[in-house]
Amino acid sequence: MNKITIAIDGFSSTGKSTVAKQLAKALGYVYVDSGAMYRAVTFYAMENGLINDDDFNSEALIYQLQDINISFKFNANLGFAEVYLNEVNIEKQIRTLEVSSFVSQVAAISEVRQKLVEQQQKMGKNKGVVMDGRDIGTIVFPDAELKLFMTASAETRAERRYQELIERGDKVEYNAVLNNVQERDYIDSNRKDSPLVKAKDAIEIDNSNLTLEEQFNKILQLAKMTIEGFE
Ligand code: CDP
Ligand code: CDP
Repeated sequence: MNKITIAIDGFSSTGKSTVAKQLAKALGYVYVDSGAMYRAVTFYAMENGLINDDDFNSEALIYQLQDINISFKFNANLGFAEVYLNEVNIEKQIRTLEVSSFVSQVAAISEVRQKLVEQQQKMGKNKGVVMDGRDIGTIVFPDAELKLFMTASAETRAERRYQELIERGDKVEYNAVLNNVQERDYIDSNRKDSPLVKAKDAIEIDNSNLTLEEQFNKILQLAKMTIEGFE
């Protein structure tokens, strides 16, 4: 069976990574969370004193990019690959609201994008990959056979992310999560380098009123049809 490349882009907390993981498992493909890579670089900057309150030393970060090694290792218990920064598992640390509040600034830096896009393209060079992010169907894999663009209302997305953070035990306010979601949507959509836009050939899926199961069934069907079309 021919393997294809599946690119899933869209706004924050639209369910991209949930459906990408389910899809990869169902098809026997590799799942890559490109957002985790931008979060890992942000976490590095925070840990190394390059981000303090509102002060962000982007020049120092660009200089230190060569010291940042991001990798993924499959965790059989979880069923997906976790992200490592310089060989240390940072999967949990990168999901905080604090990392979320700086990540879009870090992701707007061209040097950061260049490094990560190169690594993402290497990871997907043999196809059989599901990658989610903001520029996967436009920049990373413009030739992907299946491109999806996920949307949902900001309030729905913030509520979903808020519940997730509360369940992890993080002390956050719903309004802070909503503000973060809206701020990231704005920065990600308006940056100069690789802004978040729907690729011309992407299929848009608004999942505001779809359950996880409904969303997965719809997308799995699309994937199977696309794979059959390439046999
Ligand atoms: O899970 P969530 O949608 O909240 O975010 P994410 O996928 O973990 O991505 C975090 C941030 O990384 C985004 O808000 C973007 O600023 C950046 N990002 C990007 O610029 N390009 C990508 N391909 C993936 C993420
Ligand atoms: O990767 P992205 O930021 O786009 O979203 P996610 O982490 O996959 O999903 C964010 C949260 O929304 C998760 O807790 C999902 O279970 C939830 N979700 C949902 O309840 N219903 C959907 N149709 C999609 C996502």
